Amino acid sequence: MIKRVLVTGGAGFIGSHIVADLCEKGYEPIVLDNFSNSSPKIIPVLEKICSKKLELVQIDIKDKEKLFNFFKSASVDAVIHLAAYKAVGESVEKPLKYYENNISGLVNLLLAMQEHKVKNFIFSSSATVYGDAKVVPIPENSPISAANPYGRTKLMSEEILKDTAFSDKDLSIIALRYFNPIGAHKSADIGELPSGIPNNLFPYIAQVALGKLPHLNVFGNDYDTPDGTCIRDYIHILDIASGHTAALEKIASGFKGFDVYNLGTGIGYSVLDIVNAFKKASGIDLPVKPAARRAGDVPRSCANPDKANKELNWKAKYNLEEMCKDGWAWYKKHPEGFV
Ligand code: WQD
Repeated sequence: MIKRVLVTGGAGFIGSHIVADLCEKGYEPIVLDNFSNSSPKIIPVLEKICSKKLELVQIDIKDKEKLFNFFKSASVDAVIHLAAYKAVGESVEKPLKYYENNISGLVNLLLAMQEHKVKNFIFSSSATVYGDAKVVPIPENSPISAANPYGRTKLMSEEILKDTAFSDKDLSIIALRYFNPIGAHKSADIGELPSGIPNNLFPYIAQVALGKLPHLNVFGNDYDTPDGTCIRDYIHILDIASGHTAALEKIASGFKGFDVYNLGTGIGYSVLDIVNAFKKASGIDLPVKPAARRAGDVPRSCANPDKANKELNWKAKYNLEEMCKDGWAWYKKHPEGFV
């Protein structure tokens, strides 16, 4: 029986939506976070959404001793692991920061689980491991590679998990490869923190719409795509969250071993599609400027979601209009995030 689920990075954008979904589905989530890329001010908001007090553990996964001590008295049934650094550009400048946190942190967590016989693990992986895929929509058995240290930490983490599952037949490990999560909770009270100058498209558009940035730079309009701009598989954060509880249910139904699933819609949208959908959802006419291509961008990335649809009994259900409407509702209601 899986009841108490540790969500590492549970105060973050994706983690908090998973915590909310777990509560809704009757699980008992425990939020582990060091707040290096999130705010403790989200906790009371999340408790209001969950209509209950949440167990909060402020631990850095690099602190092996604290992690072991937590597991000693915690009686955790499963772990959903999101705590990781994820800025592609920063990972190129500071690779060791990424390997220490994303790899050593993962190993610390797995050792603590092994010590305390916790056998169920869901890992936050990324479509970034597909690189410039030759087959789009991309199936899980597509060749994987990484073009930057961040992507390499995801690739290596999956290999570590595969080896660990092979070494203990009683383990259940599922890696979920996220495509491009956007949107926010229907309450508009949790969402992606508007901190600094965003790397990602949707939060950047939101800052332009809030008047905090002058215009959106479209990184390249001469790609081999219908409108010349890159295509991505944007997926509502609520669909990403429900994909995790679906994976938990698969484990609860007896799955053993290691497997990977894409969390995507299977529908690709270009940068200009997103700009137009945002304009429609917000009523704001965004100033947009063409700019040079961004290093590392691939022209097309879109999931083949068939395996998750079938084996996790999960399918993305929100469309692009809802992603933009819900995402904008959060930024409009909380332009400074959690204050
Ligand atoms: C989407 C498209 C940009 C900003 C990244 C990470 C990936 C994952 C998700 C963690 C691209 C274009 C963007 C802007 C633009 N993160 N763009 N102007 O690059 O698909 O994936 O986030 O797992 O690892 O690589 O998402 O939102 O950064 O970019 O034109 O100001 O929007 O060129 O084509 P991406 P993104």
